[in-house]
Amino acid sequence: MSYKLGIIGAGKIGEALLLGAFARRLFKPEEIILSVRSEAHRADLHERYKVESSLDNRRVAAESEIVILAVKPKAIVDILNTISGDLRKGSLLVSTAAGVPLDIIESRVPGYVAVVRTMPNLAISVGEGMTVYSCGRNVSEAQADIVTGIFGSVGRVLCLEEEHMDAVTGLSGSGPAYIYIVIEALADGGVKMGLSRDVAIEMAAQTVLGAAKTVLVTGEHPAKLKDQVTTPAGVTIDGIMELEEGGLRVTLIKSVMKATERARQLLHK
Ligand SMILES: NC(=O)c1ccc[n+]([C@@H]2O[C@H](COP(=O)([O-])OP(=O)(O)OC[C@H]3O[C@@H](n4cnc5c(N)ncnc54)[C@H](OP(=O)(O)O)[C@@H]3O)[C@@H](O)[C@H]2O)c1
Repeated sequence: MSYKLGIIGAGKIGEALLLGAFARRLFKPEEIILSVRSEAHRADLHERYKVESSLDNRRVAAESEIVILAVKPKAIVDILNTISGDLRKGSLLVSTAAGVPLDIIESRVPGYVAVVRTMPNLAISVGEGMTVYSCGRNVSEAQADIVTGIFGSVGRVLCLEEEHMDAVTGLSGSGPAYIYIVIEALADGGVKMGLSRDVAIEMAAQTVLGAAKTVLVTGEHPAKLKDQVTTPAGVTIDGIMELEEGGLRVTLIKSVMKATERARQLLHK
């Protein structure tokens, strides 16, 4: 058999990509094969998505034009060693594993396989992900477009040199966690001022979403947008003063720095 897309590891990331591909009609169910580790999970995915499913990674490698590897980083090398000889000539291998560099992947698969390393984030599960990818050897423009198409079906996509991947991990990879804390803290402020928890969380989350969308839609610098909503001697400038005094700005900068450094350590472990 021959499938256009094979997904090895259909957990949070793999399943989100599957859903995005269906939503954007990039692939039909009969064009996809996936593999997982447990029979119960395989049966469940098969039942829900009506795609071919297997516990045999070698079969996915042998029968797919594009193979997405969406297993935990520690499982990557073993799986690459297992499937290496099965990957087709001219196939495209796309890894989503955090901290696994291109050279590690490329050194374990034949030279005729094109390799792409990606760093998505969990917001791909709601179609608002941020994915950065780096191309390894042999990746054609058409194959890069395929990667943009697949990850573009679940959010935004950028192609960067691999040297930036640690910073990507520290910013957009870990970023959702930072922003959950910001949302929770804003909501706490609302609760402190008498709003109910539910209402405060909804308001905080929508405010973050709206602010982010304004930046992306207008293309304006965030500082300019901030100035636009800050009336002289108004309310917002008082809030901003507290925020600056509390060091939010420098704390976020240092968060990205620390997470980037940690990602760098993982890479060279
Ligand atoms: N989650 C994130 O926010 C995020 C962000 C960026 C990058 N990533 C990267 O994306 C990758 C996947 O992460 P995830 O969060 O989706 O993990 P996950 O939810 O734990 O899913 C992992 C999947 O891999 C399957 N699996 C495990 N061992 C396997 C094997 N030997 N053969 C075939 N399938 C196997 C599991 O199957 P069973 O369910 O049957 O055990 C499961 O479906 C990781 O490398 C991670 O670094 C994740």
